[in-house]
Parts: sequence; structure tokens; C-alpha cells
Amino acid sequence: MAKSKVYVTRELPGNALDKLRAECEVELHEGELPPSRTELLENVKGMDGLLCLLTDKIDGEVMDAAGKQLKVISNYAVGFNNIEVKAATERGIAVTNTPGVLTDTTADLAWALLMAIARRIVEADEFLRAGKWKSWSPTLLLGTDVHGKTLGIIGMGRIGTAVARRAKGFNMKIITATRESDRENAEQVGAEIVPLERLLKESDYISIHVPLTKETRGMIGEKELGMMKPTAYLINTARGEIVDEKALTKALQEKRIAGAALDVYEKEPIGVDYALIGLKNVVLVPHIGSASKETREKMAEMAVDNLLAVLNGKKPANPVNAEVLKS
Ligand code: NAP
Ligand code: GLV
Ligand code: GLV
Repeated sequence: MAKSKVYVTRELPGNALDKLRAECEVELHEGELPPSRTELLENVKGMDGLLCLLTDKIDGEVMDAAGKQLKVISNYAVGFNNIEVKAATERGIAVTNTPGVLTDTTADLAWALLMAIARRIVEADEFLRAGKWKSWSPTLLLGTDVHGKTLGIIGMGRIGTAVARRAKGFNMKIITATRESDRENAEQVGAEIVPLERLLKESDYISIHVPLTKETRGMIGEKELGMMKPTAYLINTARGEIVDEKALTKALQEKRIAGAALDVYEKEPIGVDYALIGLKNVVLVPHIGSASKETREKMAEMAVDNLLAVLNGKKPANPVNAEVLKS
């Protein structure tokens, strides 16, 4: 039997691609950057499987360009807002993702951002490197306490719960705006489920952990930012489009909130012309939530295993549209 053909849109860390090559004919997009739209539409032709990244927009046009034999789209990410799942389901194509393995790594980063913005770590490092440190001082680089404060978690799923678990060591009060389906998670970490409005008004730190969906796009806009305490901080490691960046920029410039720490943006990558670059009360990192060596290698294994399972007629461990696999 001829080997299945798989298009992989970027080199992945670890040995997972060797495993894929042992079973399939692999076409790998080389280089540091994603394939252009034209390259994607061209290279996907005739493929049975597609292993893609969150930087690749996979819509019906890409699926049709691949052809009717395309069976599986395996995303190297837990978030799958880059894939038009409905279009895949309509075409009988399985979509898979990489949940779980990156939960703690991403929660660690949310905490790194929270601590960095609260204690002005980036500013302090820049200050020292610029040779500005003259003496210990009672008023040098005063930040805000983290311990004992109120942490508001938007979306108590896997990562939200892992962030809350870490907060217990800081003796924080935890509140959450989330769905009823997350009640058990909330109870497990002693978090009270509250309406979003109350979370915005009462939290000292707000960390976003919902997926990007029709409902969550623009969930935090001018009105919501206006409800936050002027002393509160916003941390976003979920997806940029959940926050209205124009409104956030304005709130930060006018010091209507204390600060923000971001891993994700409406349009990635951002450059030095990004509106928030000049502000001291922000910490900005380039979408590195799951970026530990261990986790990125595990994600590669998972993405390859999911893809191979579907190609071999088995159930993948992490289906997004399980209904396709039933038929
Ligand atoms: P998850 O376990 O599915 O958690 C998301 C939670 O949000 C779910 O419990 C979900 O409830 C809830 N939710 C969905 N829509 C909501 C709404 N409108 N209002 C309130 N709650 C809502 O996913 P996860 O593994 O924690 O990942 C969360 C997101 O983090 C991913 O989708 C991804 O976008 C992002 N992420 C970013 C990075 C990074 O590198 N920065 C890394 C990993 C993940 P239901 O289960 O009822 O839908
Ligand atoms: C990263 O952003 C992911 O969704 O895995
Ligand atoms: C600070 O270094 C202190 O001893 O209080």
C-alpha cells in the first residue's frame, strides 16, 4: 500500500517527525516563517494529513485545495481558533489539538507575567543595566504586593485551574467568571464563581484563560476595562482578540488601570511600532506560553500521534470534532 502523504508546516522540536517519517511520506515546510498563503494552498495538494501551527489559517479553501482524500488536520496547539472546524466537519475531516501537556507550562508563564508586572521586574532589570542604580532606596521601584490579593480568573478550564492552584501558595482570594461546566474546577481550587462584572470590579489581578470563540472575541472592551480598579492588572496568555487592544491601550495610557502583561496580541507578530511599546506599565512577551523545551517536544509527539491515529483508522487521543470519527 502506498504511504500516506502528510504536509507539516514547520520543523518541530524533538524526534516526533522521525516517527512520522517512518510511516508516511512527509513534506516539510522549511525555515523559520510559516508558509505563505500561496505556498500553503499549493503544498497541501494531494495530502492525506496536515500538521499545522496556530500561525496557519486553515479554512475551507485550504481543505478543498488539499482534496477529498484529506482525513486529518492536527494542530500543534491546544487553541484551534486558526482552524475552521465547521468546514472540516462538513468535509468529514478530523481536527485534533494538544491539550493538557502545555497546561502547567502556560500557567507558569501567566504567573511569570503576573509577578513581573507587579514587581516591575523588566523595568528594574533595564534600570540596572542602564547603570542607573546608585543606592538602596526606600522608594526605588516600588511595586504592588501579590500575596493576599484577589485574583480573578476568566475561564476556569485546564490552564485557569492551574493558575489558580499556584495562587494558593500566595494566599490569594480567587474568584472566577466561568461556565457552569467548570464548577468542579472552581470548587477544587476554592474559587467563587461570580458574574464577569463582579470579577472586574473586585480583582487586583485578572488573568484570561478562555478560548477565542464568537462569544469571547472582544469580551474585554472599554466598558469592562472601565469597571476594573485603577490599581488592577490584566494578564493575557489566552488569545489577543479576546481583549479590545485599542481600548486597552487607552486605559493604560490614561492610567485607568495599573498595568498589563501580555503574551498574545490581536495581530501577531507585533513590532516596535506597537502601541504599547513605549509604556512602562506593561510587560510584553512574544507568545511563549507553552515554550519550554520539554513541553514543545511533548506537543510534537501528541500532534504526530493524533495524526497517525486518524490515518490508521484509529481514534485519536485528542479529537476536536469527535462527531466526524463516529461516521
Ligand atoms: P480549556 O480547558 O478548554 O479551558 C477553557 C475554559 O473556558 C473552558 O472550561 C470553557 O468552558 C471556558 N469557556 C469557554 N467559553 C467561555 C465563555 N464565553 N465564558 C466563560 N468561560 C468560557 O482550555 P485550556 O487548555 O485551559 O486553554 C485555554 C486557552 O488558552 C486556549 O484555547 C488557547 O487559546 C490559550 N493558550 C495559550 C497559550 C499561549 O502560548 N499563550 C498556550 C496554551 C493555551 P467549556 O468547557 O464549557 O467550553
Ligand atoms: C498556544 O497558544 C496554544 O493554543 O497551544
Ligand atoms: C532589605 O534588604 C532589608 O534588609 O530590609
